[in-house]
Amino acid sequence: MTAERMSMRRSQSAATVQRFSMETFQSLLEKKLSAALANAGLPAAAGELTQATDPRFGDYQTNAALVLGKQCSENPRALAEKIVVHLSVNDLCEPPAVAGAGFINFGLRPAAIEEKALEILQDQRLGVAETETARRIVIDFGSPNVAKPMHVGHIRSTVLGDALARIAQFLGHEVVRDNHIGDWGTQFGMVIYGWKNLLDREALQRNPLAEIVRAYKETNQRATSDPQVREACRQELVKLQAGDKENIDIWNECVAFSMQDFEHVYKLLNVHYDLQCGESFYNDRLPGVVDRLLKSGIAEISEGAVVVFFRDNPELADKPLIIRKRDGGFNYATTDIATVDYRINELNADTIWYVVGAPQTLHFKQILEVARREGYTADLRHIIFGSVLGEDRKLMKTRSGENVPLRELLEEACRRARRIVEEKNPNLNEEEKTDIAEKIGIGAVKYADLSQYRMTDYIFSWEKMLALHGNTAPYLQNAYVRIRSIFRKTGENAPQIDKFVFGDPAEIDLAKRLCQFAEIVPQVLNGFRPNILTNYLFELANSFHAFYEACPVLKSEVPTRSSRLALCDLTARALRRGLGLLGIKMPEKM
Ligand code: ARG
Repeated sequence: MTAERMSMRRSQSAATVQRFSMETFQSLLEKKLSAALANAGLPAAAGELTQATDPRFGDYQTNAALVLGKQCSENPRALAEKIVVHLSVNDLCEPPAVAGAGFINFGLRPAAIEEKALEILQDQRLGVAETETARRIVIDFGSPNVAKPMHVGHIRSTVLGDALARIAQFLGHEVVRDNHIGDWGTQFGMVIYGWKNLLDREALQRNPLAEIVRAYKETNQRATSDPQVREACRQELVKLQAGDKENIDIWNECVAFSMQDFEHVYKLLNVHYDLQCGESFYNDRLPGVVDRLLKSGIAEISEGAVVVFFRDNPELADKPLIIRKRDGGFNYATTDIATVDYRINELNADTIWYVVGAPQTLHFKQILEVARREGYTADLRHIIFGSVLGEDRKLMKTRSGENVPLRELLEEACRRARRIVEEKNPNLNEEEKTDIAEKIGIGAVKYADLSQYRMTDYIFSWEKMLALHGNTAPYLQNAYVRIRSIFRKTGENAPQIDKFVFGDPAEIDLAKRLCQFAEIVPQVLNGFRPNILTNYLFELANSFHAFYEACPVLKSEVPTRSSRLALCDLTARALRRGLGLLGIKMPEKM
């Protein structure tokens, strides 16, 4: 066996063993803290152990003594001193210090950092453990409506949902990505009327979706002023719902044209679905849903409609939910109730995440409450987010006041990124430039979204998101490319080392950050906050730049040289993996 293959085998088996033993500093210290609390005769689960917010106070801290002090009205500082006596953390930390009102601070020893960094270097997953409580999660995200182009408002759900799916999957959950497309509803009366009466066939050939939308809009206008048109639209809808062949064919064609537009956007965004069960998929289940809810007494007949009242729920008491209208028609909500059944009973989901904007908050409160009353115990979450605003701080629109089509926006991103590539690296060939520009452009749009706190609105700014400095995707991509070019320059691969040697504080700082990767990734799912990961990656890139300024790599002596090269390699892998978990690709050059 060649030396290379032998070392490969070694690192593979090391990786398998680590799957069971790899722990982060945080999880190790948590265990040690619990043990100390128990030995001190205190409740073993008290307070939190977190990364320190200020490096002057060390690397980790716990508020355990403060929490316990409150619980049993004792002096928290005295409690902290008592806990410290029982802490045995010598293998990892300098002697822990009590600070302030009773915090306990932990500072890692360089030797412990060297060891942990080596473990991570040898692990494909950079130390990220798989969850011990794997769930089967259906993620409902994107979910655009047919007969309308996807617009900028769809960015957040699509990009956020995709990132959460990637992270959940990486952590070992089973994920089903479901596109709950709006392909059914009252608007189809108008769409079909427009198709039959106002369609320009040539225009349809050129740009099908645009022409369908144009005819639909014109129908809408006519219907507002002309009761006859309104009635004709209603008739078309009734025929569609009754299964009329001609109308079903038209509907099918409209759906197909819309899907083409969606697919184009998904390709640009590199977003994939496991399922695309649109609203129409649930049509024939709706009567059954209504019957069942009537039978179980969850719904009742009220003024000819079937309604769910939430009388004992103060928040929803005056917000009844109509699941069958007086005219016999079903609502958006009826479909969502059928969707819950399907996902839990047939897809075997124990968790459903709805990544849908804040305006649908009430709708999902009602749907979740119905599910609870039906006895479902699955964990259903509505993951809401704020809006994308234009520079004028209003909902982002085109100059003529229309929604900005997502496809055009993404193409614009690639065009702008292309200019950066031309400037930075004019000698690349065409194909490379296009590829890199797409990675930078799409990455910038995604990152700008994911790096925001999800609940707040944000202002869409080309300048900011494409800047090569600051908390942007291009900045992180640039850091990665710099590292790759170090290796390209020397023609070397990442060295196989069996020990890190750290001398400079900048090396230690960078290595510590790399050890935190495994602590950060799972945290994202706690509050569905990818911005925790973006912030981390930004700081990681900053630490790398500081290291690279302070520590010569190629010109240093062995063994420092290979230790530093390995640190470079590990940083590149963390940046690449981190952005990958957010659905952002990494260019090799830029
Ligand atoms: N199509 C809807 C819209 O564009 C979003 C659907 C969200 N998912 C759901 N299960 N209701 O507003």
